[in-house]
Amino acid sequence: MVKLTGSNKIKTAIFISGTGSNLKNLILFSLTKRSPIKINLIISNNKKAKGLNYAKQYKIKKKIYDFNNKKNTEDLILNELKKNKINLICLAGFLKILSKKFINNFSGKILNIHPSLLPKYKGLNTHEKAIKNKDKYSGCTIHFVNSKLDSGKIILQKKVKILKKDNAVTLKKKILKQEHLLYPRAINKLFSNL
Ligand code: GRF
Repeated sequence: MVKLTGSNKIKTAIFISGTGSNLKNLILFSLTKRSPIKINLIISNNKKAKGLNYAKQYKIKKKIYDFNNKKNTEDLILNELKKNKINLICLAGFLKILSKKFINNFSGKILNIHPSLLPKYKGLNTHEKAIKNKDKYSGCTIHFVNSKLDSGKIILQKKVKILKKDNAVTLKKKILKQEHLLYPRAINKLFSNL
């Protein structure tokens, strides 16, 4: 078995827009000896994203793009990814939709975490929808990103029971906890045999 050392771990970029709890979780995971990934770059479309603080804390390069001109921005990002020899992109609460061209440049190498049991509840406000529909379960999904929103091949899912007393806030909290277990598991599932 090939031993993954700092220099041959998969160079990874994490894309965020907000709080960054999944980012922090992936950073901590990446710092474990057996993790197949190393996080070399954090990209955000939002300069106020709280998650950007983790870049400073863990000394990871960060780049912020305003996406005013999507095509130009994506070209700049692609250049930056190339410059940093990035081989894997993990979307973690990234709220911009990437173009087909961008995705094709990283075909099979972009993962996303989504807070529902896909294909149920693509897009935003998943917890509100699950509560409103009186679902018995919700959960989270890690999937490959393709050009259709939240529709790529599913890698792993985790179910979470919705209790009568749950609301969108408590459900979000419960699911987030599972997200933090699921993302590293999905990465291990894909890459730990390298
Ligand atoms: C998570 O619920 C994730 O599934 C969704 O956006 C949220 C991001 O949370 N895509 P955080 O910024 O990682 O805390």
